[in-house]
Amino acid sequence: MHDRHALTARIAGLGTCLPDKILTNKDFERMVDTSDEWIVSRTGIRERHVVSEGESVATIAVEAGKRAMADAGVEPEEIELLVLATATVEQPIPATSAIIQPALGIKNATCFDIAAACSGFLYAMHVARQFIITGEVKTAMVIGAETLSRYTDYTDRATCILFGDGAGAAVLQAAPAGEGILRSALHTDGTYADFIQMPGGGSKYPPNVKEHIDARLPFIKMRGNETFKVAVRSITEVCQEVLAGAGVAADKVDLFIPHQANLRIIAAVGERLGLPPEKTYLNLEHVGNTSSASIPLAMREAIDRGVLKRGDLVLLAAFGGGLTWEDRLRLSWPGQPVRGDGERPRGEVPRGAGRVRPRRRRARRVPL
Ligand code: UT7
Repeated sequence: MHDRHALTARIAGLGTCLPDKILTNKDFERMVDTSDEWIVSRTGIRERHVVSEGESVATIAVEAGKRAMADAGVEPEEIELLVLATATVEQPIPATSAIIQPALGIKNATCFDIAAACSGFLYAMHVARQFIITGEVKTAMVIGAETLSRYTDYTDRATCILFGDGAGAAVLQAAPAGEGILRSALHTDGTYADFIQMPGGGSKYPPNVKEHIDARLPFIKMRGNETFKVAVRSITEVCQEVLAGAGVAADKVDLFIPHQANLRIIAAVGERLGLPPEKTYLNLEHVGNTSSASIPLAMREAIDRGVLKRGDLVLLAAFGGGLTWEDRLRLSWPGQPVRGDGERPRGEVPRGAGRVRPRRRRARRVPL
């Protein structure tokens, strides 16, 4: 048994998977009454990846998980815990984490899912870290994976332009206190539960009732403007809480990696925290809002681009449906980039929309 007071968790490896199919703002101009100019100026998003037929949340989660293990240099048998965060489960029963366990080969892992929407990956990291701190497991995997395109209402211009699909996985291992994850905080305020929701598909409005489908209940609905305001306030406050708790001044943060929901939200938070744009990592321009996959996708990219380096002090923050929000301050960045796209899974969006094209990666520090 480890000494619980001397332990934390560190990220030993990261892997991601973005589906090949891309939907651009031009595609949306053909689907709803919108424009590239409106979408870019209001959100910062230019394109998003979406699954194709035959792909699903499980297939992209498996790909990300395999890459994370390769990056960490761990064998599947070493993984003792899998916590998978998703708002778009493979199927209601059983848990998506259990469905993907065999494909990952992690036969010694206890597997469960958590639902915390866009904060899901950081919630999962927090949970896995507790298992590591108590000494119950030494090596854990967390995955944030989403196929939001399967629940996006492509007739609703206010939401459909936002979301993309993707998956990100991290292998967590025990580390001495002072390395790895320094501090984290989780919050939930269910009084905002109707700000972002998918009313249908559960116990209240089951998916096996035609009227529920006709009423478009199993689709994502959002009170965007109100969500925007709560998001700015809650992320700012939780970042301040975590920085104060860790005894770290904002100007000591090397890189801020926020949930990639909206460029204007990120800019407003950065301004309130006194974090200069060049210390904020952005990739929403080419992935959109991928909910629980957002943070690991951005972290992996930041490493591959040399923006995030070993030993950097990193501030991660997310918020989402529920409303949930989470913040994490982290240091000590191990792991090698995993390149190569491997096999891609598949999905569904309006027929004829979007196209598959060779990967072209763009990312930048924020010119806000
Ligand atoms: O990760 C989960 C958390 N979710 C979020 O972070 C989303 C937070 N919210 C947002 O990102 C923004 O609220 C949106 C991008 C969704 C909307 O931007 P907004 O500046 O809040 O716009 P709005 O909702 O106040 O709408 C302004 C106008 C409206 O028209 P009227 O009523 O002024 O005539 C909308 O109908 O913009 C219209 N509009 C659009 N126009 C062109 C809404 N969507 C579109 C669109 N294209 N796609």
